[in-house]
Amino acid sequence: MSLSLSAEQPDEPADADDGVWLECIECGETFAPFDDVRYTCDECDGLLEVRYADLPTFDDFDGHGVWRYADALPFAEGVSIQEGATPLYEVPRLEESIGVEALRIKHEGMNPTGSFKDRGMTVGVRVAKELGVDRLACASTGNTSAALAAYGSRGGMQTLVLLPAGKVAAGKIAQASLHGARILEVDGNFDACLDIVQELAGQGEAYLLNSLNPFRLEGQKTIGLEILEGFLADYDAVPDRIVLPVGNAGNTSALYKAFRELVQAGELDEDDVPKLTGVQAEGAAPMVEAIENDADEVRRWDDVETRATAIRIGNPVNAPKALPGIRETGGTAVAVSDEEITEAQRDIAGEGIGVEPASAASVAGLRKLRAEGVVDDDERVACLTTGHLLKDPDAAAAAGSEPEPVPADTDGVLEHLSE
Ligand code: F0G
Repeated sequence: MSLSLSAEQPDEPADADDGVWLECIECGETFAPFDDVRYTCDECDGLLEVRYADLPTFDDFDGHGVWRYADALPFAEGVSIQEGATPLYEVPRLEESIGVEALRIKHEGMNPTGSFKDRGMTVGVRVAKELGVDRLACASTGNTSAALAAYGSRGGMQTLVLLPAGKVAAGKIAQASLHGARILEVDGNFDACLDIVQELAGQGEAYLLNSLNPFRLEGQKTIGLEILEGFLADYDAVPDRIVLPVGNAGNTSALYKAFRELVQAGELDEDDVPKLTGVQAEGAAPMVEAIENDADEVRRWDDVETRATAIRIGNPVNAPKALPGIRETGGTAVAVSDEEITEAQRDIAGEGIGVEPASAASVAGLRKLRAEGVVDDDERVACLTTGHLLKDPDAAAAAGSEPEPVPADTDGVLEHLSE
């Protein structure tokens, strides 16, 4: 088995359901998609991917948002709160100061719950309904829990979220709370939360909706499809590079899968596939380490720390899917400091776009790689900003200007302004 760009479209196995099946990326074992609850391969514990007998072309896409891409998804519609169709902003000042041919920001913070997780949840919760489960669960650095809570309540299901105590931004906890999730604050980091929730799911206590769940990544493929359609419309070409923040490497895996499927469908030339470029915070950079060392496996980091709490992750579970994605597309991975992240958050805000710290890592990484000459000045680049500024109001306030106390009269205000 290989997740190579030139892989042939697989033959439909007998256990496919309406042209959809699950396949292990390690041993190739196939499974019926909706008969049993399953997250990894029964044979070898490898990661699973969703496969389709028929892959769509761009002409097949119709409608708005994630479900525009229904032909690339396991269902025609999902449990929806109108996710997707996010802006692909021009950022002329940033483009100029970083020094690339074209720079666009795909702002996933403009999804219903303020992050890209909604794209995965609209599909994942639909699958949960198909499977007939009643309780959904996830471990989360915050955004997944907010999306799970919202989509779970939309779907009329119970939700359980495990969060690393003291390390989740205020907006995200508020969302999970108001949408009615049961919130368990774990005395440990995200990776410990994921270990526990995987065990709970394995014991049948809840249906797991972390990005280990292959169906969630199907929804997240639509980020890649939207970026490609946007660039084709504006530049008549797909981007040379897509830069994105990396935590569990779910998005990296999902974008790579979107590209592989377009190549298999004959819609995208292998040589034109955008270079997937992952960015991590220096204090949580196991993927960067693996890429730099040309390692086959990622070493789990037990101690992780960064202001970008969304990507404070030491054990990227989707690495076996994402490492080939970065390598096969000719991309790379880079680590940035918290200071560089905050600087980029201010730069993006200076274009009127409000993002949370993890999101700004993409722009910080691009700036660094451009300065190092890894990214050329003739490249057209899309940076993914994964979550909204309001997710982490404390980080935004700390990065921004201080409120100034003034008296409650105009003369006093004028005097203050003239100081
Ligand atoms: N950016 C934001 C804002 C995130 O919330 C996450 C992941 C990532 C980037 C990384 O994406 O895992 O696909 O590489 N947040 C997860 C959560 C872990 O629980 O909300 P990835």
